[in-house]
This record gives sequence, structure tokens and C-alpha cells, in this order.
Amino acid sequence: MGQMIPDPTSAPPVKLKANCASRKSQNDASFTERVIAATGPNADRRLVEVMPSLVRHLHAFAREVNLTVAEWMAAVEFINECGRMSDDRRNETQLLCDIVGLESLVDEITSRMLATSNSETPSAILGPFYRQDAPLLPNGSSIVQNLIPSVPWYEQAVASSAFVTGRVLSSSGVPIKGAIVDVWHSAPNGLYEQQDESQPDMNFRGRFETDADGRYAFYALRPVPYPIPDDGPAGRLLSLLDRHPYRPGHIHFIVSAAGFRALTTQLYDEGDEYIAKDSVFAVKDELVVRFAPRDGDPDARWSLEYDFVLGRASDQG
Ligand code: DHB
Ligand code: FE
Repeated sequence: MGQMIPDPTSAPPVKLKANCASRKSQNDASFTERVIAATGPNADRRLVEVMPSLVRHLHAFAREVNLTVAEWMAAVEFINECGRMSDDRRNETQLLCDIVGLESLVDEITSRMLATSNSETPSAILGPFYRQDAPLLPNGSSIVQNLIPSVPWYEQAVASSAFVTGRVLSSSGVPIKGAIVDVWHSAPNGLYEQQDESQPDMNFRGRFETDADGRYAFYALRPVPYPIPDDGPAGRLLSLLDRHPYRPGHIHFIVSAAGFRALTTQLYDEGDEYIAKDSVFAVKDELVVRFAPRDGDPDARWSLEYDFVLGRASDQG
């Protein structure tokens, strides 16, 4: 019964190998492949495509920079903090991705993959401040609410008032009737309505439906540059990198129409000092516009005309 227990006093002396030579190291390529090979036969198909590359890049990164346990743990805590700070008014994890250019890159990859012609208006990132169900307003109305002299930035708002119009077209140039132009921008104090208790709900937001000529029109303000929220972990990272948090002034759009691929984009003001140094790397040349002085309109000092060109929805959607 039982195993024979060798008598340690009579056993020949064993020469111990150095520990690192007696087991496989985690720090070689076969370790990385072993982690990848742990994937089971019923794994999700897209993950089977994506995870080997992700694991290889993560391991290669850790090896390349000699990542220490303390540094990795600090990164885990950093990401946890981003999550804890996020809710329906703030998306800190998205902000983190944005300052390292990831949202812009993924946006570009996606729009290239889905493009069906090269005349489509380029896309730009959604950003963290979109809200669904902005009020559907008649063409020619204003997204500026509550513009009264007691508002602290009243003078600035009047000086930057702008009439924005244009058409929504197919890539062959045919106007699209019934397209929805969903628009939003920040207040002159640099805050979106949901970041700012003092603004009415849905201020500087609206949706407009194009008419029979494919035309939309609304009143808004020339957008101002402002810092992305920098009071959280993403802001801390920016300052550790000796970077500023500013975005050039911009107006956000989502333009959609039945049978066409929805376009998420932004327009930038040509003269803005941050055009060439956007903190989230979203500016594209085709999206930089010039506001022209507007005469004879008591409601706007500036005007802007911009046509959006939509691509057809592909079969895959
Ligand atoms: C970001 C984008 C925006 O449009 C904005 O207003 C603020 C932040 C971003 O990409 O993080
Ligand atoms: Fe924005």
C-alpha cells in the first residue's frame, strides 16, 4: 500500500538546476503563443480573429518597455478610475482613448471600410457629448435657447451668431429630401449643455429635416475652442505628457437618410488657433470651413454654407 518513500540519506545527491533554466520563462515567444492557444473551440468568431493580435501586441509592449508590476498596477487603477468617473454625462474612458488618437483612428478605419464612393463627406469622431432625441425643429429656426442679456456670454453669443445652411446630397450629387441633420455644439463658455447646470436642457442641439431641394438651415453660434474635461485621469495624463487639453471650435453633425449610411462628422472654423493641434486629433482638411460676414440679418452676423455628401448603405449596413 502506498508509495515507497525514498530514504533521503541514501539517495544520491541531486544537483539542483538554476530555477530559470528548469522551467519555461513567461518572457519568451512560446509563452505568448501558449496564452493564445488556450482559446477554446467554441470561442466567439470575431474574438478568435482579434485576440491573438491583441495578446501579441500587449505582450510585446510589456517586453519592449520592461513593464514593472507597479507600473501595470498603476495602469489598472487608472482605468478603474476612468470607469468610476463615467456616467451618462461623462465618458472618461472614451476621453482617454481620444487623447491617444484611438477614437479618430477607429473612426477612419470604419468609414474607409464602409465607403462606397470617394466623394463622401469625411467622417469625424462622435465625441462624448452627443445626446439622442434633440428637438426636431423647423428649418430656419435657432438651436440657441434663452439668449437674453442676463446670460454671462450674451455679447459673445450675439457677435458670433451664425446662419448655417446647405444641402444633403447623394455621392452622385442628387439632393436627398427628408434627411435628418442632427447638430450640437458647446456654449461660448466651452461647456455642452449637460456639463453646465446654468443652461436649459438641449441648449445648442437640434434636428432639422431637409426639404425637397435637400436643404437644411438653422441658426447657431460660431464655435469656440475649449478644453476637453481635464479634471479627471485623462487630464492628469495630458499634463504628465506636457500637453494642452484644447479642441478647436467645432460643430458636430450626424446626417442620416433612408438608404444611406449615416455620417457622423464635425466642422471646424478656419481661423481657429487649435486647428493644427487638436487634443483629440480629429481635424480633417475637408471639414475646415470659413464663416462669411452676413449682412441684413438681425439674427446672424455670420453665415456658413456646407453640403454633406452621403454614401449609399451597403448590403451589410
Ligand atoms: C472630445 C470630443 C469632442 O467633440 C468634445 O467636444 C470633447 C471631447 C473627445 O474626443 O474626447
Ligand atoms: Fe465636441
